Amino acid sequence: MKRAHLPGGFIRSVQLLRERVEDFSRYPFSIPAVRALEELALDPKVTFLVGENGSGKSTLIEALALLAGFNAEGGSKGFNFATRRSESELHAAMRLVRGARREKNGFFLRAESFFNVATQVDELGATQFYGGTSLHEQSHGESFLALVKHRFKPESLFFLDEPEAALSPARQLTLLAHMHELVERGRSQFIIATHSPIVLAYPGATIYRLSEDGIAEVAYEETEHFALTRDFLLHRERFFRELFRGGDDQDTS
Ligand SMILES: Nc1ncnc2c1ncn2[C@@H]1O[C@H](COP(=O)(O)OP(=O)(O)OP(=O)(O)O)[C@@H](O)[C@H]1O
Ligand SMILES: [Mg+2]
Repeated sequence: MKRAHLPGGFIRSVQLLRERVEDFSRYPFSIPAVRALEELALDPKVTFLVGENGSGKSTLIEALALLAGFNAEGGSKGFNFATRRSESELHAAMRLVRGARREKNGFFLRAESFFNVATQVDELGATQFYGGTSLHEQSHGESFLALVKHRFKPESLFFLDEPEAALSPARQLTLLAHMHELVERGRSQFIIATHSPIVLAYPGATIYRLSEDGIAEVAYEETEHFALTRDFLLHRERFFRELFRGGDDQDTS
């Protein structure tokens, strides 16, 4: 799991300070991927977290975002929501190893809190910074891309939890194009939890799989996202024969 630090990112790695953990049998330390954590090197450009539902991606990304100075609810660093959600204690037992450069800004996008971000933008009267139309008056995907286009700036640090939730396949490709611009010309850094085989295909990224066995780096082609999606699209009749067999048996009994 330990990799040589790569130069160039705002955050080079994250460490779990195991001596600060009182009880590894309690959430969030009981999550296998957290329990096994020592030091995780982050890609200076794009790091993906993948894994089954409940494997700890959101817990880990939230802890990283909090350590980097973001609000637990999401948003840019200036955001300060009145509604407090209960954050896990994980960040208190972790440390970021920072690189030489410092990010100018960034964004923490939680999978479930985009609505709150949009409300905050309206309440701050900040719509003009998001393309001029209230994020609430656009579709989920339109408002998400407006956010990316207008508020994702160079030299920034981004934590995105399931950015694909709002986006059609074509717009996921648009997101990848924006990411490429922000990473290559803008020298920004992304940490992204995703289930999308399209988003995950971003070239050259580091992919970590969270599982019962801990956290391990995997190649894109080794991920279930790639392999299962490919097999399904190529042989979907076979999948459905398997999946629906129970129902057929019942029908004929
Ligand atoms: N506040 C909490 N208290 C106790 N357990 C929690 C809490 N939040 C999450 N968990 C548990 O921690 C585990 C990891 O949750 P997490 O939300 O990090 O998973 P995830 O990988 O993001 O899943 P998904 O792909 O469904 O978003 C889950 O088993 C979940 O039930
Ligand atoms: Mg999650």
